[in-house]
Amino acid sequence: MAKTEATAPGKIILFGEHAVVYGRPAIAVPVTQVRATAEVEDSAIKGVRLHAPDLGREYWLSEAEENDPFAYVVRVFSVAASLGTLPDLKVTVRSTIPIAGGLGSGAAMAAAVIRALAKHLDITELGANQRVSELTYQVETLLHGTPSGIDNTVVAYEKPVFFIRQRPHNRIETFSISQPLRFLIADTGVESETKLVVGDVRRRWQKDPGKYEKIFDNCGRIVNAAKVEIEGGRIKEIGHLMIENQAYLKEMTVSSPELERLISTALGAGALGAKLSGAGRGGNMIALVTDLQEEKVRSALLSAGAQRVLSSVLTNVLT
Ligand code: PMV
Repeated sequence: MAKTEATAPGKIILFGEHAVVYGRPAIAVPVTQVRATAEVEDSAIKGVRLHAPDLGREYWLSEAEENDPFAYVVRVFSVAASLGTLPDLKVTVRSTIPIAGGLGSGAAMAAAVIRALAKHLDITELGANQRVSELTYQVETLLHGTPSGIDNTVVAYEKPVFFIRQRPHNRIETFSISQPLRFLIADTGVESETKLVVGDVRRRWQKDPGKYEKIFDNCGRIVNAAKVEIEGGRIKEIGHLMIENQAYLKEMTVSSPELERLISTALGAGALGAKLSGAGRGGNMIALVTDLQEEKVRSALLSAGAQRVLSSVLTNVLT
């Protein structure tokens, strides 16, 4: 029987995480080397079968827990498609994106499943980038509580985005990258749940709004400056802004000893800039490097305890 496949990339936040939840801008880019892939096929057996081989799980949609993320994606799709009952299907999802590491694994899984279902069932409208992004956002709400919307946007559009959370519609801009930017993405190996970190920052903000509003304003200023420097291709300045952004993330209490260790290691080995990426308290850090420094910084990161180091080049024509 014919199978339909769709994929979505991982992502990193270059600038502005956390502050983006409070209406300040942020910049995120896709990481195309790691992806979630969904496959949909007609089934001869009644019902919708969900298969997640990476997790060693196969189960019926009708028997899945209410807060099961995979089942939730399929249910969100089914409501959006106004399908009272889905046809008999098998949906398989695989992913090379590390889980709970700030690389957008949940959003990519959702976007890939929604796209594959829309294609397979020939519901073109739900396969459009904007709809994939909106439906992925609904799923992210279950996983994250109060997501800013940046993760679903970048994985659905698969383009670098300058993003501002606002009503009634988020502001989403793409921008040009005049000099290729090479990032190393190093995993601390410490799993961190975005929902918990975002919730903790919210409590701290509620306790001391003056302090946190000032930090968020500074992050917003850095993001606006970073957009200008990226468009102008001024790599050293971009690196400085990463270091500055990291100082504010530390002040927000979302850094960790493991992240700080990898960040100072990368800078010590010659990276132009380094910071945590995503929710923090674990997960991944990113380092901006030149082609010449890449190997030195990579091996320093591995010696300092990084579990994995990915390399991603950001250009106007994404590779
Ligand atoms: O941990 P991640 O990669 O899902 O990133 C979360 C980014 C935050 O700004 C902390 C939250 C959000 O929803 O934007």
